[in-house]
Amino acid sequence: MLAIKNLKKSYGEKEILTGLDFELAPGEIVAIMGPSGCGKSTFIRLINRLVEPNAGEIIFQGQPVHALNNEELRKVRRKMGFVFQHFNLIRRLTAGENLTLGLIKAGFSKEKAYQQAEKVLADVGMVGRYAEPVTGMSGGEKQRIGIARALMMEPDLLLLDEPTAALDPILVRDVLTVLEKVVADHGSRSLIIVTHEIAFARKVADRIYFMDQGRFIESGPPERLFTQPESWIGQKYRDIIEYS
Ligand SMILES: Nc1ncnc2c1ncn2[C@@H]1O[C@H](COP(=O)(O)OP(=O)(O)OP(=O)(O)O)[C@@H](O)[C@H]1O
Ligand SMILES: [Mg+2]
Repeated sequence: MLAIKNLKKSYGEKEILTGLDFELAPGEIVAIMGPSGCGKSTFIRLINRLVEPNAGEIIFQGQPVHALNNEELRKVRRKMGFVFQHFNLIRRLTAGENLTLGLIKAGFSKEKAYQQAEKVLADVGMVGRYAEPVTGMSGGEKQRIGIARALMMEPDLLLLDEPTAALDPILVRDVLTVLEKVVADHGSRSLIIVTHEIAFARKVADRIYFMDQGRFIESGPPERLFTQPESWIGQKYRDIIEYS
């Protein structure tokens, strides 16, 4: 459902991504892990062109995302939900308004948007919170709304960029529980999750990619990567698992 070929990104003279290849099958769950600054956010943001690539191909459901005009891109983005590390909610709006905004802009009726919002609020354990302003919510609740918003369009691909990294440890568990449910119910939806949460990645991912300095240095099923890693990153993670 997604094929990426020779994807490159530079900022000025600095090459951030050096020519990435990546494939994702329908229904597949992939986790991307690697040290801070290695290019994980840049990569996941390139997939829906929140960041513009310098070179390479992004083919999503047969469409060349890298070559689409703004109108075409808007349509394709509706099939890709995105969950941000820092939630990116509109602070002055309620949970319900944050959720329904995209659907209403896309031409859905208010009634349909409302119904869908109630459905996704239930999916993230936030029933009855539709009319509540997001400003008063805890980080974990804000992120649940962030996840719910990404599910509003029933996307075929869900992109999550360190969805728990901005939360304190108690709230991390709550959000991971919600994400485990999203994964359990994913059906033919594919997910790409950037995360530092080893146990979570190990539990939910079909495949893991280790990234270092703008390239993927190892990929495979979690069982192999965390027990018989070849890369230095895999060896570090294995050590962390063994000592925990
Ligand atoms: N808009 C930008 N302008 C210039 N440099 C950037 C920009 N965005 C990212 N970079 C640089 O690109 C590199 C990769 O950043 P990126 O945010 O993709 O890393 P990351 O793997 O997501 O890190 P983290 O785990 O800390 O989130 C870093 O060196 C960063 O400073
Ligand atoms: Mg990042």
